[in-house]
Amino acid sequence: MQPRKVIIDTDPGQDDAIAIMLALASPEEIDLLGITTVAGNVPLSLTEKNARIVCELAGKPQTLVFAGCDRPLSRPLITAEHVHGKTGLDGPVLPDPEMPLQSQHGVDFIIESLRTAPAKTITLCLLGPLTNIASGLLKAPDIADRIEEIVMMGGAYFEVGNITPSAEFNIYVDPEAADIIFKSGIPITVMPLDITHKALVTKPRNEAFRDLGTPVGTATAEMTNFFERFDKEKYGSAGAPLHDPCVTAYLIEPELFTGRFVNVMIETTSELTMGMTVADWWNVTNRPANATFMNDIDADGFFALLTERLGRL
Ligand code: RIB
Ligand code: CA
Repeated sequence: MQPRKVIIDTDPGQDDAIAIMLALASPEEIDLLGITTVAGNVPLSLTEKNARIVCELAGKPQTLVFAGCDRPLSRPLITAEHVHGKTGLDGPVLPDPEMPLQSQHGVDFIIESLRTAPAKTITLCLLGPLTNIASGLLKAPDIADRIEEIVMMGGAYFEVGNITPSAEFNIYVDPEAADIIFKSGIPITVMPLDITHKALVTKPRNEAFRDLGTPVGTATAEMTNFFERFDKEKYGSAGAPLHDPCVTAYLIEPELFTGRFVNVMIETTSELTMGMTVADWWNVTNRPANATFMNDIDADGFFALLTERLGRL
């Protein structure tokens, strides 16, 4: 089986970091063409630096890392230091990166990659606000038909919001960008909070990371120990929700996940529900389905895969 060609778009973020390391540990399934970074959890100057820190932690300094958009399409940037800490990677103490940041803009890298590769051979893994991809579609509408699939972390239906009562962070930061993506006709698979809130780093799972006895294992344990505070306090969760690694795990073992092909639309008008992913889960409208919206996970299988793969780095 040939590995899938993948571009990861991300706003590291501890959970993004673990998702990136899972991808870097899985070359049989994922041929990582590059990582494009976006403003989200923390400003772009930190997300691009954190992406390089993570690649070096994983022992993959040759990975191509690009900086993309530093703010949403039309709204002011909202960040999440209250969850991820001032650096965005609080928890472990990691050295500043030595590997270079690519000079090409991340959006141009996405456009060029899609235009030069055979059509529908590149999968986009979206782990943060959707600004870069939406910007690419606005600048080069022809790339829409060239994307094999979008697999993204974002939104919620049964779990509703984690940044407002009705919206999940990635969508809320740039709802206009999300609206463009969900209206694009591109095949989309969504990992919403409905599923990521079932992928919790309980104490035994955190200990399994630490028991790897490697810099990657220890750093992963320290990252999740740090960013579990927000969800423990708000939801009484049993541990940190591994939002973004659900996206990478799906590319490796899709059978870990189950969901439904439904219509999903984005609220972009009402400030009350701005950024809400309105999923027609019960098919009560005649709106055409446009996304596979996941809602269940084999959590033990997910953590077994994640821990085994991180152990390879
Ligand atoms: O709401 C969770 C999402 O927002 C995750 O991608 C996390 O990294 C933050 O970007
Ligand atoms: Ca993220």
